[in-house]
Amino acid sequence: METLSTLAYLVSSICFILALRGLSGPDTAQRGVTYGIAGMAIAIITTLFMVESWGLIILGVLIGGTIGTVIAKKIEMTALPQLVAAFHSLVGLAAVFVAASAFYNPEAFSIGFENDIHTSSLVELSLGLAIGAITFTGSIIAFGKLQGIVSGKPVTYPSQHAINAGLGGVIIFLIVMLCATQSPFFFWALVLFSLLIGVLIIIPIGGADMPVIVSMLNSYSGWAAAGIGFTLQNNLLIITGALVGSSGAILSYIMCKAMNRSFISVILGGLGGETAGAAHDYGDRQAKIGSAEDAAFIMKNASKVIIVPGYGMAVAQAQHVVKELADTLKKEGVEVSYAIHPVAGRMPGHMNVLLAEANVPYDDVHELEDINRDFAQADVAYVIGANDITNPAAKNDTTSPIYGMPILDVERAKTVLFVKRSMGSGYAGIENPLFYADNTYMLLDDAKKMTENIVKALD
Ligand code: TAP
Repeated sequence: METLSTLAYLVSSICFILALRGLSGPDTAQRGVTYGIAGMAIAIITTLFMVESWGLIILGVLIGGTIGTVIAKKIEMTALPQLVAAFHSLVGLAAVFVAASAFYNPEAFSIGFENDIHTSSLVELSLGLAIGAITFTGSIIAFGKLQGIVSGKPVTYPSQHAINAGLGGVIIFLIVMLCATQSPFFFWALVLFSLLIGVLIIIPIGGADMPVIVSMLNSYSGWAAAGIGFTLQNNLLIITGALVGSSGAILSYIMCKAMNRSFISVILGGLGGETAGAAHDYGDRQAKIGSAEDAAFIMKNASKVIIVPGYGMAVAQAQHVVKELADTLKKEGVEVSYAIHPVAGRMPGHMNVLLAEANVPYDDVHELEDINRDFAQADVAYVIGANDITNPAAKNDTTSPIYGMPILDVERAKTVLFVKRSMGSGYAGIENPLFYADNTYMLLDDAKKMTENIVKALD
């Protein structure tokens, strides 16, 4: 039976690896999801065959499954990052509970006896416990910031880094003492200090860096699960935890690279959702306000249009009508393509998912490094609900909080059409000088409504 279950777990692990591979590209994503479902089904069935009583497990699956289904059906696409943060907090909490169960009932977990737990098991257990508790409170604060319950502004105070480093030292000390003495006092002190540091390391991080943090907490939750996998002596949990832990870390690194920020600077806090950049004086410059009819006229006479989607397209759920606009233009003989910035929207791949949902052909969708030089030959850049990812301040204003972030060079197009509801700022909270450029027309309306009106005007 043990050999069979090991084999089944191995097949399940391979399915998870294939799932990750599939999810790395839009055209293979569906296959990736199928592999993931198959892997999870094998894992659950195998685990059920390995335990004696199914009652509690089935009850847990029913309660958890029902809550998960209701939340997944209700959640808005734009609220996914906070949902992910909320779910991570549960993984952290589960790790703390499993560690406590194993600590108080080691025989049931075959890791030793009361007051005589194997040292190696104590090390695994205390690591899983600390990472789990940090993930729990860290994710709750991240959820609060993304949901707007807690201020997105970085919370800083004197000697913050020194205090955090000191607390990190206390946690290492408590892990050593717990392993040496097996005392419940050190167990609960470790829980308390880990919960505290989870809060303290997330509060100085600003709103705009939150997606990186969510991905980092995803990584933490994976390592917490892997640590608990050792305690439970469950190979699949160890492998899956390591996969989640390492893929989360890689994703955080990719996001930091796309924002031209070092991982360390994100962790130390800085770019904030409510942080304003240096104030700019645009003098008497007035933005040109255009209408749907103006936009239709300009686009109809264009030979090359590049569509730049951003967060506002997701909010307005305008992806389907954007596809309709592209199809209409193509019928008129206009060449249409889409430019995707790596951090457009609020989560990695946000725009790709929306465009795939609207059946936009993958060949029309281009990444920043592949399309940026094409803007110079484009007649129109149709920027729909995007802002920061087009802001030239990232290139030429060293005081800007987004300085250094690669941006889409939309200003090089003959005409830039900006669809948004107001002259307000984007997520980084800074002004965009492009709104006042000579070749820019502001189309101030909801992204879906404006695009529908342009399609009507084209007809
Ligand atoms: P933003 O800079 O946030 O701009 C989005 C714009 O959409 C806003 O200025 C808003 O202006 C407009 N908008 C909102 N609702 C709209 C609606 N219904 N119709 C039309 N417009 C609407 O978005 P972006 O350009 O996609 O940039 C992404 C930001 O998130 C960057 O700062 C990036 O660093 C940050 N970020 C993203 C990620 C990932 S992984 N995606 C990770 C870390 C950070 P109005 O309110 O005037 O309409």
